[in-house]
Amino acid sequence: MNGGLGFETIRDDREEGRFRVHRGAFTRDDVLELERKQIFDRCWLYLGHVSEVAKPGDFVTRRVGGRPLIFLRDRNGKLHVHFNACPHRGALVCREPSGKKRKNFMCPYHGWVFSDDGNLIETPGADAYPETFNRDGSLNLQPVPKFDEFRGFVFVNFDHGAETLENYLDDACEILDLVASQGPDGMEIQKGMQEYSIRANWKLLQENSADAYHAGITHSTYFDYIGARDKLLDNFDNTLSFGGVRNLGNGHAVSESLGVMPWGRPYARWIPSFGDEAKVEMAAIADEIIKREGVTKGEKIVKGDRNTLIFPNLVINDIMAVTVRTFYPLRPDYMEVNAWSLAPINESPTSRERRNRNFVEFLGPAGFSTPDDVEMLLQCQMGYSNADFSPWNDISRGMKRDVVMKSDELQMRTFWRQWDKLLKETHVGDE
Ligand code: FES
Ligand SMILES: [Fe+2]
Repeated sequence: MNGGLGFETIRDDREEGRFRVHRGAFTRDDVLELERKQIFDRCWLYLGHVSEVAKPGDFVTRRVGGRPLIFLRDRNGKLHVHFNACPHRGALVCREPSGKKRKNFMCPYHGWVFSDDGNLIETPGADAYPETFNRDGSLNLQPVPKFDEFRGFVFVNFDHGAETLENYLDDACEILDLVASQGPDGMEIQKGMQEYSIRANWKLLQENSADAYHAGITHSTYFDYIGARDKLLDNFDNTLSFGGVRNLGNGHAVSESLGVMPWGRPYARWIPSFGDEAKVEMAAIADEIIKREGVTKGEKIVKGDRNTLIFPNLVINDIMAVTVRTFYPLRPDYMEVNAWSLAPINESPTSRERRNRNFVEFLGPAGFSTPDDVEMLLQCQMGYSNADFSPWNDISRGMKRDVVMKSDELQMRTFWRQWDKLLKETHVGDE
């Protein structure tokens, strides 16, 4: 059971309406080891966005699922994802976080040179090697088993036998499409990355990222602040008992609402602090979207607030602005987080300025959200030291409700059911 963990990881009592997760899932080394094997080595993991390598010669290096990778667009415009490890003796071939106009990569250790398509093209002192050297291609930079793109979002998979990305994303395709359709000329990752770490289990951040229930309490300072500033909170229900949560399949879920949140959206919900002069431009932005995408989809884009979880470790929060966030555990109680702002290509400077102000105000590393959330995650992880005597997390909220609300916990149950299923799965080749 549970890949041999020897303890009950979740208790899912649908009749009673109770859902519990054992706190050992957040603290134990053997759980993390199993997660690496059963989840991170088998699921599609977010790598980056096509806009980060928009031109031939552009590259970024990134660790995904604990593995250093080079993501690049070669001189002919083709995308590649190579393992960033020299086939000679293993050094990282590329140590820069990103760059442009690159045709070749030279390993800093003994100087082997690889072309952008991964082929080994130069070995200093080549006469020391036989002619058959690299006939089988094993001395080229090795490609990841699979990578694919959906609406600009690029994912990798370390399992040669994995299902297609689109199948895997299931109903989350609709949400990615809504985000990708915001700009008439497409979307781009803004320059710069938020990079931070949290002394807490990685699954706590996945839970937190679409947890509307905590918003009014953990982020009360933010609500007080915008309440005083924009005076739009008078009739606002800060228990967030509206909107809804949808299971998007394969462990993915979204918590969403249309038009009721009290904050502004650069696309295209005006608030007083944007200033009267912004009204005309914002109305034009909304009109353009609705004309281009039709009323049904257009209104979803313009009015929607969505916190989306893509299993296992990608979050796309389309709220005050759009944040793309991914994270990976180095230890059961420690994760590294990368996050970016996604914005429309060719957005006007005034709209971009509203977006960026809105982004850093809540989602920035020193905004009203991130530090408060990080602190709560630390508090939970500390509480788990008592797991021997107080072993269960409760994630039952709204379980018996017919109409699921935004502040319910269906999205977490969706995540945990998939997590548990994958941990229990055995695969061909396993003992
Ligand atoms: S380790 Fe790369 S050239 Fe030797
Ligand atoms: Fe939060």
